[in-house]
Formats: sequence, C-alpha cells, structure tokens
Amino acid sequence: MDLQERARQRCHWLPDLSASSPPMYKALVEQLAQDIASGAIKPGDRLPPQRLLADALQVTVGTVTRAYREAERRGLVEAKVGSGTRVRGTQEQAPNFHHLTRAGQDSIDLSLSVPIPNPLRQQQLSAMMEQLSQMPEALQTALNYQPEQGCLEQREQLSAWLAQQGLSIAPEEMIVTEGGQHADFLTLQALIKPGEAVASAALTYPGMIAAARQLGLKHLPVPTDSEGIRPDALERLCQQQRIRLLYLMPEYSNPGGEHMSLARRKAIVEVARRHDMLLLEDGVQFVPATLRGKPLFELAPERALYIFSVSKLLAGGLRFGALRAPANLMPQLRAALRAQCWAPPGLMGAVACRWLTSSDADVLLNWQWQALQQRQNILSEVLAGYPVRSHPCGFNAWLPLPEPWRASEFVQHAEKQGVTLIASDPFCVGSQPAPQAVRICITPPPTDDILRQGLERLRAMLDEAPPMLAPLI
Ligand SMILES: Cc1ncc(COP(=O)(O)O)c(C=O)c1O
Repeated sequence: MDLQERARQRCHWLPDLSASSPPMYKALVEQLAQDIASGAIKPGDRLPPQRLLADALQVTVGTVTRAYREAERRGLVEAKVGSGTRVRGTQEQAPNFHHLTRAGQDSIDLSLSVPIPNPLRQQQLSAMMEQLSQMPEALQTALNYQPEQGCLEQREQLSAWLAQQGLSIAPEEMIVTEGGQHADFLTLQALIKPGEAVASAALTYPGMIAAARQLGLKHLPVPTDSEGIRPDALERLCQQQRIRLLYLMPEYSNPGGEHMSLARRKAIVEVARRHDMLLLEDGVQFVPATLRGKPLFELAPERALYIFSVSKLLAGGLRFGALRAPANLMPQLRAALRAQCWAPPGLMGAVACRWLTSSDADVLLNWQWQALQQRQNILSEVLAGYPVRSHPCGFNAWLPLPEPWRASEFVQHAEKQGVTLIASDPFCVGSQPAPQAVRICITPPPTDDILRQGLERLRAMLDEAPPMLAPLI
C-alpha cells in the first residue's frame, strides 16, 4: 500500500476535492463547511492531523495549514495546543437551556431568574388590554407594519419612562427588540463577523454564550474580582488579540453578583478606547435609580451599547426590550433586524409600553423592588456566615461552596431535598473550569415563606458534610 492510501485509511474525515478548482485551501474549507452542515462531521470531532491529511489528499502541508487557519477564522473549528483542531459547537452543541426547565411540582424552584409571582401582573395586563381594545388609533398603529427601529411613539414613551428612571436615551438612539436576548444576538450578528473575538467575564449570562457560539464567534473569558472584569486582565488580553466587543453587567452580574464602582467602569472604558472595542452593557436586571451606578453609555457614548428589557420588571413572556446604540452603528443594526424579522411586533410594543408607563406599573415595580430587598434580607439571614455575593435588589445570588462540596453533587442533593438550583457549568465561557459554586435565584417562590424553607434546606446541607460517595476503582 502506498503512502497516500495508508494516509487515506487513517483519516476519519476525508473530503472529496476531485471536482474542486484551486485554490485548494479554499475548496478544503468549503467542503468542511458543507460536511459540518450535513452532519457528516460533528461538533467536537477532531480533524485529521495536518500532515496526514496532506498525504491523503496529495497537497502540501502548507495548504492544509492555511485551510485549518481559515476554518478557524470563520468559526468552523477551534484549535487547541495539545488537542488538535476540533469542529466547533453549532446549534446542537451550544449551551442548552435545560436549566430553564421548571422545577418539579413539589420542588422549591431557586433556579430561574424571573419576576416575583404576583396576581397583580395578570390583573394589570388584563386591564391594559381592555383599555387598548377601546383605542382605535392605537389598534391601527399596532396593525401596521412598523419601522425596523420600532414604532416612534413607543420609543418616545420608553424614552420618557427611562428618563424618570435616571437614564437618558433619546428615541432615535434606540432600536426596539424582542427582549434582552434578542438585543444581545442582534448586536453580535450586526456588528461582529464570524471568527472575530468578543469577551466577557469568565462566568457570564448563558444567553450571551449561546449567541456567540451560534454566530461562530470566538468568546474569550476575562478574569474577574469582586468588582467584575479586571481592567489589567482585559488590557493583557487586548494586547494578545483583537477583541471587537466586551459584554458586561456593571450593576450586578448574572451569575456572580459583582457590582462595578465608578472607578472600575472608567478603567474599563479606558481599555476599550485604547483598543477600539465596543462595550455591550446588559441592563436587563434593571435596578432602581437610587442603587444604579453610571451607565457605560454616559462614560463612552461613542462605543457603548445598552440593553433594556421589561422581562424582569413586568413579564418575560412579553418579549419586549430596546437596544441603545451610537448613531454610527444604527444603520447596521436596523439592517440586521430587517433581515431577521422585518420589524418588531407593534402590538407587543403597544401593550408593553402602555403598561410600563402606567401608574399601575409604578405600583407593581415599587412592590417588586421592596420585595426583592426583603427576600435578599431573608437570604443573608438564613445563609449568614457563608460567602454569598448578591445585590440589594438582585434576583440572584452566588454561593461558592465550602469544601468538600462539589457543585454538581450539591445540586443533585438539593434536588433530593426538594430544592432546584443551578451549578456553575452553564455560565462558564469556553472550556473554563467551573468553580464549585451555585446560583440561587430568590424570585420564583410564590411567597417569602417558601423561599425561606428552600434556603433553610440549603443551609442544612451546607452545615453538614456531603454524603460519602461510593469509592470507585
Ligand atoms: C443578564 C440577562 N440578560 C438578558 C436576559 C434575557 O432577557 P429577555 O428575557 O428580555 O430576553 C436575561 C434573562 O434572564 C438575563 O438574566
């Protein structure tokens, strides 16, 4: 058997380039893209070593190297020292949202970041829709196709409401989105090319991880401290490679609960300016003005985008939010939104804006902000002595576990005790090791007492050692 035949037999992925025209490295990348799309080669599969594939295809090693590099730039594969080049995750492999499965009927759910249950939500929505049904002009507007930036009247309403909350965003600076996750995805899709790099805290919101992966972007983790992303670490990363965008939650991060001081925000802005990097501030976990620091778009209006959503204020099912962006980026964002869905839904915007700007919503939001503070107090009381990190108006808290608990064991054991919560894994960027920590969401239980019961069960677990594992051989 000759060298080529032996090499062909050892290649578990062997593209057929017989009908391809030069340059061969491009043909190789195209074939790879097709084979990934058809499922012939799967996320996580390793590509053959370069010399082996070169021998099998009778091309130079340089051709294969160039093809692999181009495939990496396009986000098709990922090269790692020591483990070769592997097909990157696509939709199927992107972080799944199994953690969004609701807890069982009998379990106390501390796993989801949702608004605190209150029958007022249904009552207010019902009253709002009844009012709207009697307003022919508003109904006609809702029936019309909307401009891709969203209905102007709705943007004006939202802008006025945000101004009352201490945030100055003009209607022309915002584009209406179908919630915060859509704003994340839209930003990445419109402004970052496949293969380019974005960065975030090493532990971050899983929706961002999913969006970056789905779009074939490189997503790099930045080390954090008690204030979130460290500017020195970010600077070092930017010196090593071009980062197009930094995603962050300066108020309190999900899941880690870190809050950024003004000095820290300014230091991050300095790094961003030095390396011409965009800043994407996720403000979905909206806190009252008295507790809010300076948004990044006030410190760096030329490069900061800001995400707003009603999901944590009114209800996640409304799918209504907005993205603030510098004027020069708006045409790209508008074009991307147009391509995705033509325009945001007018009816949903009409309902969400009318509700948010009503006095009913003031009652609801003030109740929720107080209730959050009360629940945070319960959390601090029940878990006193453990290093919980949170925010006075936070939906979630972060709990590093005492030795020798492991996060996965803790979550499993909690489930047996009737408490559902999430370990650190879904929040980890790339293949970062997951810390032994869990996220505790304090909002899903219907009452404070049920929350307390759930936390007390966790406390009892923390105070005791984990059950012994059967030794393995
Ligand atoms: C930090 C953060 N950003 C974005 C989102 C998504 O928000 P939306 O439901 O508006 O898409 C969430 C939802 O949990 C979140 O926690």
